[in-house]
Amino acid sequence: MGRVLVTGAAGFIGSHTVEALIRKGAEVCGVDNLRTGHLSNLEEVGSSPQFRFEEADILDGGKLESIAKSFRPDAIVHLAALVSVQESMDDPDLNFRLNVEGSHRIGVLAKELSVRQIVFASSAATYGDTSDLPVVEETAKNSISPYGAAKYASEAIFQGYGRSYGFGACCFRYFNVYGPRQDPKSPYSGVISIFADRYRAGQSVTVFGDGGQTRDFIFVEDIADNNAATALKETPVTGSFNVCTGRPSTLLDIIRVFESHFPGAPRPVFQAARTGDIVHSYGTPAQIQMALGFEARFSIEEGLARLIGSLKE
Ligand SMILES: NC(=O)c1ccc[n+]([C@@H]2O[C@H](COP(=O)([O-])OP(=O)(O)OC[C@H]3O[C@@H](n4cnc5c(N)ncnc54)[C@H](O)[C@@H]3O)[C@@H](O)[C@H]2O)c1
Repeated sequence: MGRVLVTGAAGFIGSHTVEALIRKGAEVCGVDNLRTGHLSNLEEVGSSPQFRFEEADILDGGKLESIAKSFRPDAIVHLAALVSVQESMDDPDLNFRLNVEGSHRIGVLAKELSVRQIVFASSAATYGDTSDLPVVEETAKNSISPYGAAKYASEAIFQGYGRSYGFGACCFRYFNVYGPRQDPKSPYSGVISIFADRYRAGQSVTVFGDGGQTRDFIFVEDIADNNAATALKETPVTGSFNVCTGRPSTLLDIIRVFESHFPGAPRPVFQAARTGDIVHSYGTPAQIQMALGFEARFSIEEGLARLIGSLKE
């Protein structure tokens, strides 16, 4: 059916991507150095004969090459990264090593192994702060962080190497991903994972500004299914695509859904807007719909219900 190497497999999106691949019948080798990921995320797939896990750093070329050569993947889903915008601001050297040099190494590995397809986790952070909404793929790339800049540079690396060496390179610009297993402990976590953690604990959430700020929140299973389907396509695909719902939600919308699941929860606390926070961000998925037939299956209400259900389990 297909053999897929997944980097960052023990992470939030990585573990869901591994599950989606296994559901589709693929053989999967997951690689992760557990920097921000957790082995517990892989509990569901741990016993599957279709899955093997290797603890390794993507920058450890020799080890990665020997793992990949023994597995012989047809495709690579590259998710391992420094994932925090704030950490990239604080440590641009580390951001460069993980998010640019790491991409180069995965690109070279793809050449060495003659893989058919690379799927790369890019980000809406490539666009930076734009008032040109909804964001389309051609919107100017005005990254406002080393993280966003590195993601955009990596798109060029994968697509340029892909054309040079004959593999497809799909770069997916994820918008705000949410769902079970997103780590709320990190100070840089997505707002929904922080809200979920606080509602579960019976604590109030803090809203900076009036709560009217919008985001294009996309449920992790939609992201994972698209990663898996693209990795398993028989014909290679190259391009950069928004992966979003096209349906923006405000923070107040999100709070309303949480309050319906946690009746009696304390009311949110409103504080002054933080300088530099992006007010509105949402995209259109028209191009990925046309090229790959992608459509987000989960509405925000359905996705939040799944997340909250997993917390209550
Ligand atoms: N979560 C989002 O909203 C979002 C949005 C846009 C893009 N992305 C991208 O999606 C990808 C996955 O992010 P996530 O949210 O699942 O974060 P995550 O931190 O849960 O996953 C990243 C994984 O990569 C691993 N990793 C980091 N450095 C590594 C290295 N040198 N070698 C091997 N493994 C390494 C970590 O241990 C972790 O398991 C990242 O590339 C991220 O930039 C995420």
